Amino acid sequence: MQRERIALVLTNGTPGTITTVCGWVRSKREAKNFAFLVLGDGSTQDTLQVIVDVDTQPFSQLAQCNTGAAISVRGVLRESPGKGQKVELLAQELTVFGGADPETYPLQKKGHTLEFLREIGHLRPRSNTFGAVFRVRNTLAYAVHEFFQNRGFIWAHTPIITANDCEGAGELFTVTNFDLNALPKDDKGQVDYRKDFFGKRTHLTVSGQLEGEFMAMAMGSIYTFGPTFRAENSNTTRHLAEFWMIEPEMAFADLADDAQLAEEFLRAMCAAVVKHCPQELEFLEKQYKTITVAEIAKLAESPFTRITYTDAVAELSRAKQKFEFPVSWGLDLQSEHERYLTDTVYKGPVIVTDYPEQIKAFYMRMNDDGKTVAAMDVLAPRIGEIIGGSQREERLPLLEQRMAAMNIPTADLQWYLDLRRFGSAPHAGFGLGFERLVQYLTGMGNIRDVIACPRAPQLVAF
Ligand code: 4AD
Ligand code: MG
Repeated sequence: MQRERIALVLTNGTPGTITTVCGWVRSKREAKNFAFLVLGDGSTQDTLQVIVDVDTQPFSQLAQCNTGAAISVRGVLRESPGKGQKVELLAQELTVFGGADPETYPLQKKGHTLEFLREIGHLRPRSNTFGAVFRVRNTLAYAVHEFFQNRGFIWAHTPIITANDCEGAGELFTVTNFDLNALPKDDKGQVDYRKDFFGKRTHLTVSGQLEGEFMAMAMGSIYTFGPTFRAENSNTTRHLAEFWMIEPEMAFADLADDAQLAEEFLRAMCAAVVKHCPQELEFLEKQYKTITVAEIAKLAESPFTRITYTDAVAELSRAKQKFEFPVSWGLDLQSEHERYLTDTVYKGPVIVTDYPEQIKAFYMRMNDDGKTVAAMDVLAPRIGEIIGGSQREERLPLLEQRMAAMNIPTADLQWYLDLRRFGSAPHAGFGLGFERLVQYLTGMGNIRDVIACPRAPQLVAF
């Protein structure tokens, strides 16, 4: 089917040319001798105005052109007298592929609440808000690859099914093909995973980091970009059970290199959306008033604040504000603490480094003080933690010691320890939660509104 995307028609369309567009009717306005159709096709935030004159073939189709109908229009472009757009389309031939009954089609021209739209997840991409969000998401995904490819990072495809629990937090979705009503048991009465498909217990990955590390220890610098899964019972506006993560891993790098990469990366993402999605950002700014285009453009230019965990705790202890959760050296920062640092004190992204070892994962490198590890969290205003990363423990005895202290069984991780036995080197990396990035830059209040099919406790719509 020959068709021109509306994005291109609006930017490059020359008056006088004949063109065909396809899309969904946003609205119809009928007068005595003509009608206006507003058409959207998902390629841009903008819509194309179609003029239908009386006594033409398209006019005879109008009854079916209700909001939501899928149509194709062939016609001639002409200069638009209305302000805001260069061209409009004078219809010569119109085909209705599928109508939409105005009595039952849920998306009418009037605005809908995000809560209502969440209930019709399969139709919400047709709304202005979700069209904008998904185009911004697409731009960011492309910019992620561009950023790393331009720096010589190799895209590594780490598995979705895995036998390790990278974060050691036990938030795992088991993958099995057992008949759940007839589970085989061992002598101790425990489920016998040796009889399962893979011969051992497996689950959906919580992070591609450990596999990413062995790729980096051969390829130098790699990144992953794929779905990750956490059976975390968090019903918040920042948690999903299925989310996408980007995890760069660099050989011959320390925590300072890692923080530098994270900052350059986030700033490049800001620059990319400002450059490629100005209309989407303007729409979202006007609609939700959470983040402005000017703020995103400024973020792309401004250095991030860097502080140690110890200094962050000191700052929080001085705060006049009352917190719900206690602040004390050794306790993890809660999101109210993170937001106080980003929104109140530093008014921008903050990189917090060198956390107490007991609150961080087993693979993080012990600092010389013997109390903290070379960890970093990048905190973003409104969102809190957007990136978590670290320099990895590359010294075998220290890694073994830490794993023992944290009760991480080493039997199944000998391959991981091998990386410290053969050609070990300092290395570092981080994980960016892709939806948190999209949420930050679109200003959406709920992470469930930046992914097409959100998965959260008690929530699988499709
Ligand atoms: O801090 P996390 O748990 O770090 C890791 O998984 C490391 N293995 C990363 C690495 O060093 N390669 O998760 C990384 C990021 C968080 O900062 C957050 O942005 C996001 O993943 N994230 C979530 N996003 C949405 N929903 C959830 N339930 C998330 N849990 C983590
Ligand atoms: Mg983290």
